[in-house]
Amino acid sequence: MTRSTEETLLAAIRTIVDYPKPGILFRDITTLLGDAKAFSLAIDELARPYGDAVLDKVAGIEARGFILGGAVAHRLSAGFVPIRKKGKLPHETVRVAYSLEYGLDEMEMHKDGVAPGEKVILIDDLIATGGTAEAAVKLLRQIGADIVAACFVIDLPDLGGRKKLEALGVPVQTLISFE
Ligand code: PRP
Ligand code: ADE
Repeated sequence: MTRSTEETLLAAIRTIVDYPKPGILFRDITTLLGDAKAFSLAIDELARPYGDAVLDKVAGIEARGFILGGAVAHRLSAGFVPIRKKGKLPHETVRVAYSLEYGLDEMEMHKDGVAPGEKVILIDDLIATGGTAEAAVKLLRQIGADIVAACFVIDLPDLGGRKKLEALGVPVQTLISFE
C-alpha cells in the first residue's frame, strides 16, 4: 500500500473520545464509508492479496464487518457468510462466548454457512483485543473452514489482538494502526 493511500485512510477515520465508555478512543469508520475514494481504496487494499487465491467465502463480523466483507466478497467473486450477535440467525447455528474491549457477548453463525474445507477470509473493521476475531475463528474452525487470513482496516496493536490470532495460526492483514 502506498503512503498516500495510508494517509487517505487515516484521515478518513474519525476518533470519538470516551465512547461508548470513559477511557475508550473509538475509531469510527462511518466517515471512511461515507467518503467514496477512501471506501474504495479500503476495499481494494483488503481484497488485493487474495486476487489470485481461489476463495470460497468471505466471513464478515457484525456489524461493521458486514459492510466491508460484502464489498470484498463481491470484488473477489466469493460468497458472503455473516457472523452475528446471538439470537439473530434463523437456522441451526454454532455459538461461542467472547469478551470485548468494553464488555461481554456471544456470537453465532449458521452451521451450513461454510462447508468443511472451504477457503475463507475473515473480515472486520478493527482488531483490538482480538476477542471478537478469536471467537469468529473458533466458529469457523468448528464447522471445518480453512481460514486463509483475517483482515481488518484498523489495528490497535497495544491491545494485542494480532498476536492472539497469529498464535492460533491465522495470518493477519491490517491496513493502518493507531498506537
Ligand atoms: C467492534 C469492532 C470489532 C470488535 C473489535 O465491534 O467492529 O468487531 O469491536 O474488538 P476486539 O478485538 O477487542 O474484540 P463491536 O463489538 O463494538 O460491535 P458492533 O460492530 O456491532 O458495534
Ligand atoms: N472495538 C473495540 N475497540 C474499539 C475502538 N477503540 N474503536 C472502535 N471499535 C472498537
